[in-house]
Amino acid sequence: MIITDQDPLSQQTLELAVTAGFPADRAVLHGNAKSPRDIETALRLGVGRIVIDSPSEIARLAASVGVGGPQKVMVRVVPGIVAGGHEKIRTGGEGQKFGLSLTDGSAQHAIARVLGLPQLELTGLHCHIGSQITEVKPYVVAVRRMVGLMARVRDAHGVALPELDVGGGHGIAYRPGEPALDVTALAGRLRAELARGCAAAGLPVPRLAIEPGRAVVGPAGVALYRVLAVKRAGERVFVAVDGGMSDNPRPALYGVRYAPRLIGRRSTAGPCAATVVGRHCEAGDVLAADVALPGDVHPGDLLAVPVAGAYQLSMASGYNMVGRPPVVAVGDGRARLLVRRETLADFRSRDVGH
Ligand SMILES: Cc1ncc(COP(=O)(O)O)c(C=O)c1O
Repeated sequence: MIITDQDPLSQQTLELAVTAGFPADRAVLHGNAKSPRDIETALRLGVGRIVIDSPSEIARLAASVGVGGPQKVMVRVVPGIVAGGHEKIRTGGEGQKFGLSLTDGSAQHAIARVLGLPQLELTGLHCHIGSQITEVKPYVVAVRRMVGLMARVRDAHGVALPELDVGGGHGIAYRPGEPALDVTALAGRLRAELARGCAAAGLPVPRLAIEPGRAVVGPAGVALYRVLAVKRAGERVFVAVDGGMSDNPRPALYGVRYAPRLIGRRSTAGPCAATVVGRHCEAGDVLAADVALPGDVHPGDLLAVPVAGAYQLSMASGYNMVGRPPVVAVGDGRARLLVRRETLADFRSRDVGH
């Protein structure tokens, strides 16, 4: 299990995972801004790896390690690779907030410092070059650069690091016909490049880890919306639903395109070019622009939006107090409520100032 910086509040996520029965020693804790509480929780629970993301956390972490130490850590490296579906989810190049640069030497500097601290045990290097990557090549280049760095670490410090974690980012199709990463090809090419690079550098092959997120859970979810209003404005048909940017901010954040479809009834009407919008007080609250829906779409209809299992509810907000939707598991013709709908009572219970 990977506890990533995109999870809401690392410390709570970790605590929740462990109290739900996940073994802490198999968890990897990430975060570009770990709070003292994150670190205290990780050490108390005995988290497997803490991934160092900035120079300032090295001494802080070392000072927090108690008698149970040393703590196993990795260093997150920026290998200088631009990959990913949108600039806001590209994390392998310079000029973004994650990791330590290979190019300017901050990664090498952090590695040297960690190796000099008895409270920390450097098990290996980490990189996560971005998300929604649909080509294998950027990963192969990342492995090549990471192996190059491992060889330099061995030359400078006499240490052959036993682990390499190349992150996640495996791209999936949100709409029919979109490209997706071929994970079988990825597995083969990564292992081949690792074996080749290590043989050439005279390094033992490290244990290779990956951190798939979206590719595992994204396609498992479908978002359901009720149509509340249909408005024709010139050539456009606005189909307004009972959710929007509070349950899915991704279209507004980085222009993600979805393919909603009508469910629950059959329509023989010809298609219309619709823009599916939410109910929030923003003109940018658009869930899917210029999509084909039956021309007789009307209030009361249900729309299904596939590929809703990742970065959707985890990014949901309390905007306009619409409330976050419930989560229902469906299988073998049966449905089971997993998470209940957020209610006015939930909002009220947090409002303690009156
Ligand atoms: C460090 C790290 N690993 C893995 C992931 C998972 O990425 P994805 O869901 O794109 O596979 C993320 C997501 O942001 C991440 O930050």
